Amino acid sequence: MPLVSMRQLLDEAAKGGYGVGAFNVNNMEQIQSIMEAARETKSPVIVQASRGARSYSQDKFLYHLMLAAAELYPEIPLVLHLDHGNSVETCKSAIELGFTSVMMDGSLMPDGKTPSSFEYNVQATKEVVAMAHAKGVTVEGEIGCLGGIEDGHGTGLDGLSHLTDPAQAAEFVKLTGLDALAIAIGTSHGAYKFSSKPTGETLKMDRLIEIHKLLPNTHLVMHGSSSVPKDLQDVINKYGGKLKPTWGVPVEEIQLGIKNGVRKINVDTDNRLAITGAIRKVFVEQPEQFDPRSYLKPAREAMKKVVALRMTQFGQAGHAGDYKPVSLDEMAARYAQKKAA
Ligand code: G3H
Ligand code: 13P
Ligand code: ZN
Repeated sequence: MPLVSMRQLLDEAAKGGYGVGAFNVNNMEQIQSIMEAARETKSPVIVQASRGARSYSQDKFLYHLMLAAAELYPEIPLVLHLDHGNSVETCKSAIELGFTSVMMDGSLMPDGKTPSSFEYNVQATKEVVAMAHAKGVTVEGEIGCLGGIEDGHGTGLDGLSHLTDPAQAAEFVKLTGLDALAIAIGTSHGAYKFSSKPTGETLKMDRLIEIHKLLPNTHLVMHGSSSVPKDLQDVINKYGGKLKPTWGVPVEEIQLGIKNGVRKINVDTDNRLAITGAIRKVFVEQPEQFDPRSYLKPAREAMKKVVALRMTQFGQAGHAGDYKPVSLDEMAARYAQKKAA
């Protein structure tokens, strides 16, 4: 199966009332973990790469690994998505490379840190929508800013500083014509999201529900959605790591989101924790080992377990065979038709 449009996956998820995890990758092992989890659970897949991931893996390596995944797992609908594109240029280069979906994160300026104006965000996102839709490529935008900072990307503030305003979100969708909308409801990127189990004061699910009521037909995206499970933290700390106590987004809150319009759920940190814990364990328990496969295989297996669990919890499991892929050309024709109507 060729790489497919994210819009198709999310439309299907909306029809079926489930969510689709979007998992970040930087290397071959992470792609393999996701594909194995998808095969085991029969799930459609969104693989996403940040700017940092593109530069780490080099665009061409990443793209060809994804083509290999599509060839080796032909039964799995597979999307390659750009996570947090910081400018029109970054989105353009991803589309030219073969990404089937891009995020134009105009909630921040191109420095990836400074919250932008509404006008800037609309203008940049509109430009990307025009360019992407002409090629059948999906566009995710963001309104409101997440907390935290990852690899130079993020406000560095807490998750409550720039919550999404529902009326502004509705205006943003109308003005840009995007396919999926990331919203800020109190989450942050990285491991340190909440200093205790989140409550309605710190994780604003009521805000999400309000946005969904105004935008019942828009696919909502939850970023910063790792659950940061204690068992994964414990493995790292048991084998010499130094994670401070922390809480992530409980899976049941994500499931509540899915009942209220969330179709894409971004997860990176949980997989990073699983990989690091597995590698630390081998280093401590088998210090005589020096073959990278001795620790990369358990790392791959640990990430696969987390991804398979999330796929089941988000409800995408069992849906890989529900539909035939629509080509990007056909998607482009559909966007053009809608625009003309
Ligand atoms: O947006 C955050 C993701 O976890 C990607 O992180 O920019 O360090 O690759 P990264
Ligand atoms: P986590 O850091 O919670 O995994 O979030 C990842 C994310 O939102 C990537 O865009
Ligand atoms: Zn994010």
